[in-house]
Amino acid sequence: MSSRRLAVLTSGGDCAGLNAVIRAVTDHAAGTYGWDVIGIKNGHLGLLEDPPLVVKLTPETVRGNVSRTGGTFLGTTTKGDPFAFPDATGKLHDRSGDVIARLKHLGVNALVVIGGDGSLRLFQRLLNGSGISWVGVPKTIDNDVPGTDYAVGFFTAVEVAGEALDRLSSTAESHRRIMVLEVMGRDSGFISLYGGLAGGADVILMPEIPYDIEAMATHIKKLTDNRPSAVLVVAAEGVKPPPGDRRTDSNVGVAIARELQARTGFDARCTVLGHLQRGGSPAMFDRLLASSFGAKAVDLLHSGQTSRLVVWRGGVVTDIPIADAVAGPCFVPIDGELIRTARALGIYIGDTAR
Ligand code: F6P
Repeated sequence: MSSRRLAVLTSGGDCAGLNAVIRAVTDHAAGTYGWDVIGIKNGHLGLLEDPPLVVKLTPETVRGNVSRTGGTFLGTTTKGDPFAFPDATGKLHDRSGDVIARLKHLGVNALVVIGGDGSLRLFQRLLNGSGISWVGVPKTIDNDVPGTDYAVGFFTAVEVAGEALDRLSSTAESHRRIMVLEVMGRDSGFISLYGGLAGGADVILMPEIPYDIEAMATHIKKLTDNRPSAVLVVAAEGVKPPPGDRRTDSNVGVAIARELQARTGFDARCTVLGHLQRGGSPAMFDRLLASSFGAKAVDLLHSGQTSRLVVWRGGVVTDIPIADAVAGPCFVPIDGELIRTARALGIYIGDTAR
């Protein structure tokens, strides 16, 4: 066995580009530095199995189509807090010590965690004081990991949202309808803003900017000269429902479509894009990010660093302390470049002063 054994795992919701990160980590760690590399299955859950669920990774096992495929071939999880882990009867136990003990038993002295802000927070807590060096790689379609311009998976989701708007446009034209596209983004509106701008939306709603349903309807009537016409609205799932909407079980996009139909008299429909944004082959930029992040993570571990997050800033891959990245989700900067662009194009984006 080589003197270094590196483990890699994926944690949190999946997205496109995870396999490309695993490939880059494996190629660089095993190919360049000659380390042993193992993959842990199903995030931390694989370490709570007895025996732990692991696979050996070599440049041969990640050759070919691996980096082109969606999802994560290692599996992932959003469940099972190791600090309060349920047994068969539902009783909760602190099993955080088991996670570290299993890593040590496997001979792991370096770990790459591919995750969003929640997973990075979890592993920071788990690994603190363990003596295992680790580096995080940011991934999430929501693009809300602080400290990086872009996370792996985001641009694939933007492609899916933009293409959905392209497709909705022709059916909207045919029927002179308002089409509302609800995209993911619980706290932040990056997919809505980037996808909406790229896909030619007339209205872009984000959790960061409050909107007024009356003002939106007025904008649409002005835009269309008050005649039923094709109108594209994109709304993040995390935007607040319109006032008066008392149903709690509906998607916010459905409520917005209903309210716009009532106020404009135009026919309106809603499409909820859902998990289509997470699936499928990664966009080319996600593959570039994934490759650069994976290689950089291994280099950081090779140079003896730990508790770092690899990030993309202004076209450069660099790194920051994990502690700077786990303070909570980051939001669309409301004075940022693309917000200015959307305003310049006359797109309704809510009701902050123009
Ligand atoms: O955090 C990423 C994300 O895709 C959110 O945009 C979305 O709200 C959530 O995950 C969906 O999670 P699940 O797959 O558990 O339904």
